[in-house]
Amino acid sequence: MMTEKMQHLLQDLEHRNQKAMEGGGSDRIAKQKKGNRLSARERLDVLLDPGSFVEMDRFVTHRCTHYGMENNKSPGDGVVTGYGRVNGKIVYVSSQDFTVIGGSMSRTQANKICKVMDLAIKNGSPFISLNDSGGARIQEGIESLGGYADIFTRNVLGSGVIPQITAIMGPCAGGAVYSPSITDFIFMVKNSSYMFVTGPDVIKTVTHEDVTKEDLGGALTHSQKSGVAHFATEDDKNCLLMIRELLSFLPANNLDDAPVLPTNDRPDRIVENLNTLIPDNPKKPYDMLQVITECVDEGYFLEIHKHYAQNVIVGFARFNGRPVGIVANQPQVLAGCLNIEASRKAARFIRFCDAFNIPVVSFVDVPGFLPGKDQEWNGIITHGAKLLYAYAEATVPKITVITRKAYGGAYIVMGSKLLRSDVNLAFPSAEIAVMGAEGAVNVIFREEIAKAKDSPAKRAELIAEYEEKFSNPYVSAELGYTDEVIEPALTRKRIIDSLEMLKHKRDLIPPKKHGNIPL
Ligand code: HXC
Repeated sequence: MMTEKMQHLLQDLEHRNQKAMEGGGSDRIAKQKKGNRLSARERLDVLLDPGSFVEMDRFVTHRCTHYGMENNKSPGDGVVTGYGRVNGKIVYVSSQDFTVIGGSMSRTQANKICKVMDLAIKNGSPFISLNDSGGARIQEGIESLGGYADIFTRNVLGSGVIPQITAIMGPCAGGAVYSPSITDFIFMVKNSSYMFVTGPDVIKTVTHEDVTKEDLGGALTHSQKSGVAHFATEDDKNCLLMIRELLSFLPANNLDDAPVLPTNDRPDRIVENLNTLIPDNPKKPYDMLQVITECVDEGYFLEIHKHYAQNVIVGFARFNGRPVGIVANQPQVLAGCLNIEASRKAARFIRFCDAFNIPVVSFVDVPGFLPGKDQEWNGIITHGAKLLYAYAEATVPKITVITRKAYGGAYIVMGSKLLRSDVNLAFPSAEIAVMGAEGAVNVIFREEIAKAKDSPAKRAELIAEYEEKFSNPYVSAELGYTDEVIEPALTRKRIIDSLEMLKHKRDLIPPKKHGNIPL
């Protein structure tokens, strides 16, 4: 039988909990709803397995006394933090509540976020941050900035140790953009989330440019133009469900293995369609996405950065239940050339996979690096080198399938055997050469072609001769740079054979503090 005192204490606890649930009050909650946004707690309900959320620091309040802030306190101070489960596995979370002082970052709020980040890093589980905040709490001044710095530090220390994911679910300006950009994946919600270092008003004052919030830093801008965001989602719910989906491919930490899912897709399934997919004419494009979806388990591919640098495709899929990262040239966009954006996109993805023990499977059809003044002046040399560096540095199993063109430096870079890839396979349609036949004869037979300028037949003959000699996979196979020339229909089987063969791969890089990737 409960004592009267305990009954009273429980009522008091209930009352305090109720107050914490009210956030910034009914008016502000109604405004949040009107903007088609879920509340901070509703977001956690969608993100986490039902009933799994355990809140921490619910009654923490800020200590600011400037500008009457002592009379403006809410339990929890504008962020809900704690832990829960996604697909049964522990994750640590923070979810900013815009209804409390605009979700702005106070010293107290930062302390709460840092507490769960420390737990996530110590215990080796992902950290997921749902951001909806007006930035540094202006009334607190530099204390708030200190709070941001503490979060950035933990983002950096946790990088490569635990997966870190951010969802931008409201405005995100100033200091609020840097923590997300250190994390591994950024999700944005279309028409309700923004990221910018300086907003439209400041831009107008400084540069006299007119720009809307959406155009400057909305979900489409960052997922298509800047590449800052990896996913542009339809609404809050879609965003949170996508995060769950992404997590299903990821290990809990850098010492864990990625989760294996049972599949009914046979490992030895023959992919007949691949025997007819590659056009005979090397100038004709085809859809590399189809090559990927034909091969992977149940045709399911989670594409990342789908709308950015579409000449390269990256994302997660499974082979015989085991997650892999896929990197592929897309002949349908810029003929699959590598440019600055594509190099950065693929390099960062490969480094994520390598940090978290996820094998990398590459599909190659690349005519080279994109030529042009714009590319050279903006540093394609440095940015292309990032991709080279990422492939060469990665110690996870690396399997490369050359479907058609693999020319020059771009061949070397795209997971070639020469950059420590483990298994290199080629279709019989592969053309592994220093460059395309037309360009090659223009250089080596310049004089003959000039003399025979009225005889296109001579040039065609030279091109055919070069093609016969070099535009095939067999020169590379003779040198051992290609391990096997395969019938395309066997691609799925061979990739799975290779992954099995490499399952216990151990590879090391020389001991060092860290490398110096060309940033
Ligand atoms: C304190 C803030 C706040 C902030 C919003 N609020 N941002 N309070 N500090 N940074 C409060 C508002 O006063 C308001 O309080 C409530 O939150 C809701 O804000 P609204 O303006 O009514 O909402 P909305 O119209 O949707 O506009 C959202 C907004 C706007 C675009 C984010 O509030 C805004 O521009 N805020 C300031 C953004 C900013 O300059 N942040 C500082 C960046 S500097 P009431 O009581 O009226 O409901 C920075 C440096 C960090 O972050 C660097 C670290 C390295």
